[in-house]
Amino acid sequence: MKRESIPDLTNSALTRPPAAWASEHLEGLLIPTSVLQDRVTQLANEIAASRPREEPLLVLSLLSGAFLFTADLVRHWTFPFELDFIKVASYGSQTLPGELSWKHDIQSPVKDKHLLILDDILDTGQTLHQVTSRLQEEQPASIRTCVCLEKNGTQARPFPFHADHVGFIIPDRFVIGYGLDFDLKFRQFPFIGVLNPDPYASGNH
Ligand code: XMP
Repeated sequence: MKRESIPDLTNSALTRPPAAWASEHLEGLLIPTSVLQDRVTQLANEIAASRPREEPLLVLSLLSGAFLFTADLVRHWTFPFELDFIKVASYGSQTLPGELSWKHDIQSPVKDKHLLILDDILDTGQTLHQVTSRLQEEQPASIRTCVCLEKNGTQARPFPFHADHVGFIIPDRFVIGYGLDFDLKFRQFPFIGVLNPDPYASGNH
């Protein structure tokens, strides 16, 4: 994937969310549903065209944030693949590697399979760096990664990580919706919005 072809929303102005979704917790809309869905379709086609022809392919989705992205992406694919989910939590600071804890084990052996890892957002790069390092130990045939969002500035952070497929480059703000949560809320938004931190700052939630 050419980096220039990734939609870069770093300097996009936020717009007003649809009235039904208006919330004091939402500062504004960054990626409307239709734009998100069109780009997911493009990504699905791009991955289908570039995937290794040899099987087996094992798609691994990182819970919980990638659940909607995964569901929308994989339903475009008619070729055979296995799909499994991993839940990881990383205990560390923003700048130092934390210990990665695996909450779900992969059901099917990884050895000699072509892996495609799906994640919601690439921020510090720590999660994907550690997940791919850990999976590499199990000797897959290959590992490719796809993220829906990449925060601007990610590549300057302590774990510069290049995903093979990226949906959008976004500003370095806390985003919610389309699987991404704050306090487990807002995952169901069918769009990506920017969190308004003020209601939380005032304790009014
Ligand atoms: P790293 O830093 O490991 O981050 O690349 C990946 C994970 O951090 C979470 N994350 C966010 N979650 N809004 C969220 O709801 C955000 O803006 C955000 N930035 C990072 C997320 O769990 C992601 O998988």
